[in-house]
Amino acid sequence: MMGHSEEYVPLTTGEDEEAAVSTPLQRRNAPSVNRILLVVCALQSVALAVLGWIAWKQSVPGYGPRERSLLFSPALEAIEHETKVFTSGLVETGTNTRWQGTTPDVDAAWQELYNNTLLRIPKAQAAMLPNRTYPIYGDEGYYVGGLDVFHQLHCLNMIRMTVYHDSYPSQMFELKDNHISHCIDSIRQSLMCNPDLSVNVWQWNATQAAVVGHGTQVHSCRSFDRIRDWAHASAMVEPLDRSIYVEDDLVFEHGTY
Ligand SMILES: *[C@@H]1O[C@H](CO)[C@@H](O)[C@H](O)[C@H]1NC(C)=O
Ligand SMILES: *[C@@H]1O[C@H](CO)[C@@H](O)[C@H](O)[C@H]1NC(C)=O
Ligand SMILES: *[C@@H]1O[C@H](CO)[C@@H](O)[C@H](O)[C@H]1NC(C)=O
Repeated sequence: MMGHSEEYVPLTTGEDEEAAVSTPLQRRNAPSVNRILLVVCALQSVALAVLGWIAWKQSVPGYGPRERSLLFSPALEAIEHETKVFTSGLVETGTNTRWQGTTPDVDAAWQELYNNTLLRIPKAQAAMLPNRTYPIYGDEGYYVGGLDVFHQLHCLNMIRMTVYHDSYPSQMFELKDNHISHCIDSIRQSLMCNPDLSVNVWQWNATQAAVVGHGTQVHSCRSFDRIRDWAHASAMVEPLDRSIYVEDDLVFEHGTY
């Protein structure tokens, strides 16, 4: 009982300090106000450090505590954050990128964004995916998969070639089937799934005597090059033969989707 009351010695009122001093037993044991504060602060620091460490441990590997994924992807380990200054890409600013235009070099630049990125996923990781995927024929213990970013880029390229169909007459069929419509809606969903929160700015332009919106802001990005390098290193060697049935004994953790 005595020990308990000691814990709650009020810290501020002189009256109670007097009371504490007046009891010899309490006087001997009562820690000074400063010491109590010191101990409380130390305990709080330790608690915060432990909580921080737990939060870090529980976040997905490869992620800092500020970015979390609700679902597993084998590419989480390749995430690296970087800042990038966007290019306006407007012809009049002379800042065209190598993905603008319709030359063979431009076509190759687009191809390089997503070619050779079909993944070879180890069975243990295939079991952790939110959706079931298919075993690779002749490559025991590996499953096929593709990161959606490469599919989105492929789709954007399809749209690009359809827009410039004079330069890509063979793409005309895309207009007729559902492919372009599918591509547009796929990119819409992807943009809405990962909203880019970079703030676009407006600045005064004296020549134009107007406030002008800009397209050259600095963005916080996941390094695309890192993800693509990782995908190339994890890519399937042979093209996927879609006509072969493969028996699959994978025990799927998330039910059968
Ligand atoms: C990807 O496309 C580029 C451009 O066409 C080509 O040079 C490169 O060899 C391709 N890479 C693979 C692995 O197919
Ligand atoms: C202002 O506008 C003019 C005309 O569009 C452009 O040439 C110039 O680069 C702009 N200046 C700035 C600081 O953005
Ligand atoms: C993936 O899983 C979700 C959630 O259960 C399901 O709605 C969707 O149809 C699945 N898709 C495929 C291709 O398995």
